[in-house]
Amino acid sequence: MARAVILGTGSGAPARVVTNRDLEARMDTSDAWITQRTGIRERRMGGDAVKWSDFMVPACRAALDAAGVAAEDLDMIVAGTLTSDKRMPSGGCTLQTLLGARKAVGFDLAAACSGFIYGLTVADRFIRLEPRLKVLVVGGEVISQRIDWDDRTTAVLFGDGGGAAVLTGTDDPDRGILASRIHSDGDLWDLLYIPAGGSEMPPGREQDPRRDHAIHMRGNELFRVAVRSMADVCAEVLDEAGVDPSDVDIVVPHQANLRILQAVAQRFSIPEDRVFVNIDRYGNTSAGTIPLALDEAVRAGRVSRGDVVLMPVFGGGLTWGATLVRW
Ligand code: ACO
Repeated sequence: MARAVILGTGSGAPARVVTNRDLEARMDTSDAWITQRTGIRERRMGGDAVKWSDFMVPACRAALDAAGVAAEDLDMIVAGTLTSDKRMPSGGCTLQTLLGARKAVGFDLAAACSGFIYGLTVADRFIRLEPRLKVLVVGGEVISQRIDWDDRTTAVLFGDGGGAAVLTGTDDPDRGILASRIHSDGDLWDLLYIPAGGSEMPPGREQDPRRDHAIHMRGNELFRVAVRSMADVCAEVLDEAGVDPSDVDIVVPHQANLRILQAVAQRFSIPEDRVFVNIDRYGNTSAGTIPLALDEAVRAGRVSRGDVVLMPVFGGGLTWGATLVRW
């Protein structure tokens, strides 16, 4: 049976760097606290001057170049995002027009941080049915616009950025997505949410617009659920593919907190040097973290043909999932 294979990746982020020291000047926090508790040293923040497509279009073009695929040959664009340029049209449609992907169908998956892995899973299933399809899967956010600057427990964590991957089908039994699984638990919605912007609190009904449109998070509880759910879904995809954890060459996990990544790797006795980390430079870019990290890992030569790559994620919803690929 055909498998979905990743042909090329790309990534992008706004140019402006915000360091922990910059945040010290803005709120009651410290470089030492942020570094020790999260592993973050700096992040990119476009603020109100940057829109999603400003860095996502270059990310997509880089992925198409790396894949050797022309935009007009794409059949599908799946965008994992909550912060595309407008409420309507979708980010997928916005990319379609900006890239000139005339025959593609574009749509979004609102799975918060898990958007890219949800997208890979949807692309995988479509490609298994129709191996000739060429699919662009993207994940990225302008999350700096969704920060409550009076809430130091969230403001220090997030940053802007994202990435993209181009997939198609292959008959090569030694390559491609070996397993990809996604889950959700709506009961846990209030661990991580944005109150306004939907029909419950539409425009004009906010009490405090800046805060109501910002991320609300219960960090400690989320931490525990994150470790458990990512470990569970990693076990699930490894099991499904019949791959032993010791055969994983590189883990490219959601970059929410360095301690979460370390805890998940420890569960499987995967050494730290096999876990790709760039949270120190980007913070948590929500749906952007995995495609951004994957692209950096590929371009740094950390991923070679035949390598087994494990990509676990969790996010608002709650949502979680993992994709296991033989490169
Ligand atoms: N600077 C300084 N002190 C702070 C800050 C800050 N930015 N934020 C909180 N503190 C203080 C708290 O007030 C508390 O002080 P107290 O002891 O006097 O009450 C102390 O630091 C410890 O706070 P905790 O919340 O217990 O710190 P913890 O070690 O749990 O770290 C953190 C908090 C980093 C948020 C952690 O819980 C975490 O990473 N949780 C998961 C968050 C996450 O993954 N979010 C995104 C998930 S989904 C997605 O990616 C969108």
